[in-house]
Amino acid sequence: MIPDSFKQDLLNRVDVVDVVSRFVQLKKAGANLQGLCPFHTEKSPSFTVSPAKQFYHCFGCGAHGNAIGFLMAYSSLGYVDAIKELASGVGMQVPEWQPSTPEAAARKERETDLLPLMEKAMEFYRGELKKSPRAIEYLKGRGLSGEIAARFRIGYAPDDWQGLKGAFPDYDDKALVDAGLVVVNEDRRYDRFRDRVMFPIHNARGAVIGFGGRVLGEGEPKYLNSPETPLFEKGREVYGLVQARDAIRTAGRALVVEGYMDVVALAQFGVGYAVATLGTATTPVHVAKLLRLADELVFCFDGDAAGRKAAWRALEVSLPLATDAKPVKFLFLPEKDDPDSYIRAHGKDAFEQMVREAQTLSGFLIAELQAGLNLGSPEGRSQFVARATPHLQKVTAQVLRLQVGREVARLSGLAVEDIERLVSPGNAPSRYQNRAPARLAPPMTGSQERNLLRCVLSNPALAAEIDDALLDPELPETAALRAVADLAPESGVSGAVLVEHFQGTDHEQIVFQAMASTMAGEGNDGAAPDAGVAQEFHQIQLALRIKRMHQEIDVLTSRVGSNPALAAELNQRVKELHLLKAKRA
Ligand code: UTP
Ligand code: MN
Repeated sequence: MIPDSFKQDLLNRVDVVDVVSRFVQLKKAGANLQGLCPFHTEKSPSFTVSPAKQFYHCFGCGAHGNAIGFLMAYSSLGYVDAIKELASGVGMQVPEWQPSTPEAAARKERETDLLPLMEKAMEFYRGELKKSPRAIEYLKGRGLSGEIAARFRIGYAPDDWQGLKGAFPDYDDKALVDAGLVVVNEDRRYDRFRDRVMFPIHNARGAVIGFGGRVLGEGEPKYLNSPETPLFEKGREVYGLVQARDAIRTAGRALVVEGYMDVVALAQFGVGYAVATLGTATTPVHVAKLLRLADELVFCFDGDAAGRKAAWRALEVSLPLATDAKPVKFLFLPEKDDPDSYIRAHGKDAFEQMVREAQTLSGFLIAELQAGLNLGSPEGRSQFVARATPHLQKVTAQVLRLQVGREVARLSGLAVEDIERLVSPGNAPSRYQNRAPARLAPPMTGSQERNLLRCVLSNPALAAEIDDALLDPELPETAALRAVADLAPESGVSGAVLVEHFQGTDHEQIVFQAMASTMAGEGNDGAAPDAGVAQEFHQIQLALRIKRMHQEIDVLTSRVGSNPALAAELNQRVKELHLLKAKRA
């Protein structure tokens, strides 16, 4: 966890204009800067950056956020990485994560102890491979070259219950058990991996964190994997990432396959950008990790029912993570083939041809949604829309969402607007779990409270002057205003800090919306001075007071009858009302 105080400090030091300018050409336009939006295609600039508010907003597609949000959306960085990158740019050091509990501290310590152990085990297995003609023969028989085996650090675990004694004289060391290399059963200790070809699994930094071991030939289980250890969490890691990284960058593409052997065989045939999940379903961590490196992510599955099911799961995970700039695709192999067998039989060109022709996410989504439905009947079409809606809601990429929405509309015979309406209410705000830029929900109806919020976001010091008694307690804007006031805005709290603070809270949408609307009027009319905002703020509160006074006068008028006390009070209120009205600009 990065402390809030650090984030505030950071946001006060970086300039969103600098950050955006690195990627988008900006021109001065009044108090703001404008350029062509990097998040949708446009010919005239509606992408607006406010130096005063440290906030960007696209009036075309609704993308918006602060410097952190921009970097995440544009560079597909994770939240922490975006903060790190910004921090290094202004010479700040992100505070090291502090383990919050003794267990966490112990775990971290164990992790650092276990890494050298894993490295040593890998070297041991590699040495054993050189000594085992049988294992070498097996790998050769599967078509692997010595070069590729070395590249993937492939080894062999000898057919020996305590083979690792050769590498670890202190075989009773508990760390061997913690690392998942040695199994304790009753009083016996023995090697987890015996007589298997060993595929080391590296983390993104290149350290060995686990192994997959294959039997030579037939046998159960075919693959034995390291258990979950302090180092190794299957859902977070992909096999072959270190070896594939350069090729992914060069090709602009990452291919996700199912097996160790597939990755290795593809690499041998010159398709270096493949990685594999570790016998688990695709997770958001997998997808996010790979989309950070690649411009395009292609999932490759077997053409059978199990493959389609696994693909659907990958699709669901990808919906919120795909961006318009970074598409996700699906490749289904002919039945009975995996990438390894396919590329051996048909060669690199044929394989890559298939990869290029992979099905788009939208194509696969639409096809699966209408599977088994009769779109010739009203009921079938309704069911189709009902199925489609929750999936459409998860898509954060603006253009993709529009395109899929249009296709759903076409197939269901509804208007695009109808689909949009069905999709938008549940349009849940995102707390940076996706890296598509946040978008605004449809505009709220304007209330005076909303206008106040706008002023306070432009000039946070005004929060101290909010007259709470004037606010309509029913309005969500009031709750947001109160939350802003509670932040005790000292001078120097920029809009960007407020945005960061409200990210993921109930007030997020309203605050973003108000923030964006502060920028709408700032196009060409020169600077929007704080004094102007303060004046507007006071005029709004005045209008609210006048409204209040009118209500009181109405009540008194209805009750006054011949009551002299009430009549006097009514008189007094009317005078006050005139005074208030005289103050109006
Ligand atoms: P496959 O059964 O498709 O194997 O499992 P494969 O990769 O084609 O391997 P070869 O060609 O027969 O050698 C795909 C992946 O599922 C996991 C492994 O990660 C494997 O690479 N798996 C499979 C296991 O973890 N355990 C198993 O027993 C089988
Ligand atoms: Mn295979």
